[in-house]
Amino acid sequence: SPIPVITIDGPTASGKGTVAHRVADKLGFHYLDSGALYRLTALSALRRGTDLNDEHALAKLAEHLQCSFQGGDIILSHENVTEAIRAEEVGNTASKIATFHAVRHALLGLQLGFRKAPGVVADGRDMGSVIFPNAALKVFLTASVAARAERRYKQLIGKGISANMEDLLMDLQARDDRDTNRTIAPLVPAEGAHVLDTSNLTADEAVAQVLQWYAAIG
Ligand code: C5P
Repeated sequence: SPIPVITIDGPTASGKGTVAHRVADKLGFHYLDSGALYRLTALSALRRGTDLNDEHALAKLAEHLQCSFQGGDIILSHENVTEAIRAEEVGNTASKIATFHAVRHALLGLQLGFRKAPGVVADGRDMGSVIFPNAALKVFLTASVAARAERRYKQLIGKGISANMEDLLMDLQARDDRDTNRTIAPLVPAEGAHVLDTSNLTADEAVAQVLQWYAAIG
């Protein structure tokens, strides 16, 4: 039988990163953080001063990304960029360049390469709809904008970074609109996806639900 894939898609700050990572740990599966690939391309473009409207140049950067995932660390051309790619500017740039077909296409092979035995948990926006349409289990995590803004707020404050709730709400809304309304690979639940609203769930509860769905399909 084929190598099993569990896809976990959803909007920014829906908790999918945490949930996908823990599910992968529990099952001993590999973990694909596809958003990190868009962020790496964005960081690379920002550093090189690449024109953010030049689809062809951006796709070239994506295609030749020198990146590796070592434990929890993300390396770009020998530099540890684990923290750097989480910056707001990088996230916003990632979301902009992710609207280009050539960029998405350039990252396809890299993503498919994560499908290795004994299995992979893939986290992103289009994992179930585009990249792994034949996944064993597809999950779509949602949460209210308010719940997500609050999580993001606590995360930032926890890291000693000042944050403003109004700005966070506006930012999330803008990112959602862009990801949902783009013509290529828009953020929508894949066909057959289980939708899980995590507004009132802890990460552990969400993980338990995903594992239960996976156990149910055998
Ligand atoms: O998930 P994360 O916030 O790290 O992703 C950054 C941006 O990359 C998202 O806002 C989205 O626009 C884009 N992305 C995407 N497809 C994916 C993963 C991320 O378009 N599979």
